[in-house]
Amino acid sequence: MAKHKIGWLPGDGVGRDVMEAARIVLDKLGFDAEYYHGDIGWSFWCKEGNALPQRTVQMLKQTDACLFGAITSKPKEEAEKDLLPELQRKGLLYQSPILQLRQEFNLHTNIRPCKAYPGNPLNYRDDINVLVFRESTECLYVGIEFHPVPTPVLQVLMEYHPRARRYAGIDPNDIAISTRVMTRQRCEGIARSAFECARRHGYRSVTAVEKPNVTRETSGMLFREARKIAKQFSDIDFYEANVDAMCMWLLKNPQHYGVLLTSNLFGDILSKLCAQLVGGLGFGCSANIGDKYALFEPIHGSAPKYTGQYRVNPIGIILAARMMLEHLEESEMANALETAIAKVIRDGKVRTYDMGGAATTLEMAKAIAERI
Ligand code: IPM
Ligand code: MN
Repeated sequence: MAKHKIGWLPGDGVGRDVMEAARIVLDKLGFDAEYYHGDIGWSFWCKEGNALPQRTVQMLKQTDACLFGAITSKPKEEAEKDLLPELQRKGLLYQSPILQLRQEFNLHTNIRPCKAYPGNPLNYRDDINVLVFRESTECLYVGIEFHPVPTPVLQVLMEYHPRARRYAGIDPNDIAISTRVMTRQRCEGIARSAFECARRHGYRSVTAVEKPNVTRETSGMLFREARKIAKQFSDIDFYEANVDAMCMWLLKNPQHYGVLLTSNLFGDILSKLCAQLVGGLGFGCSANIGDKYALFEPIHGSAPKYTGQYRVNPIGIILAARMMLEHLEESEMANALETAIAKVIRDGKVRTYDMGGAATTLEMAKAIAERI
């Protein structure tokens, strides 16, 4: 029996191309795994009304972790039009399978390393090494939204909050509400993981990034919990920053930062900014970690126009596979892979189109595999 059971979810578009690339390096490493392929993506939304069929969730429950390629998603009206005729006008609502998986498996901690590999022509600077820690089950992503807003909801808000009274008398169709919910437990949990990870990987600082001068309650809660945890980690410097200012400082002096600790939406945005500083979509990877399960993915989308052309850079998914190896305590393999990736980038002989080269997805994967 294989040592690891891995869920294998290529998804849509170039998700398939990059998963093939990931497999080349995993096989070269001698990763001892059985792979469980799962149905996921836009075609299942169209045919079945759910991009993440229940059978896939059940299948994943038999595995230790999974690797995920990419998914297509479209706005509400287009999604409805793509459904089979018999599924239309049934009130089916598209929800990103990644969000569903984060909720279903309680993958509360999202980690996005943004490290500049020397020799990457796309680096903003060569000395950047930022790790974004993003809570990923709460905040504005909880999906508690209203439009039109039911009258009783508005009434309760007006009764309990003076600021809600300005909406008295407005047509419920003319208001939309999305709620930002954060719990003390999750704020504490993400703060603790960020500090632990900083210590484990030798980062000197943790910077909590929020907007506490405006979203006083939610941002305030994350900062309060982070301050408490910071006291238990006297070897790590702790800073607090406003998210808007942080965007400027990350462009000005990204080399000053180590671990960034933040909530779901700000983390989504900040992690894209940081990824661009070290090469953009082709180099971004992320780990979604829960207490019992973990999912690893590149940060790019399905890029439908490049489907099957083997054009996109597979380094993002290969870095995600590296995180998966580390999570599964295959640290020798993880290190060997890291070294091989760094060498190929430093050599500069094999480059995909985003790096100014002409190598295909699989040529890049093979170059990395050869260096293992
Ligand atoms: C990401 C993605 C997701 C997010 C989408 C697909 C819901 O953009 O992983 O960053 O916003 O979390
Ligand atoms: Mn995102």
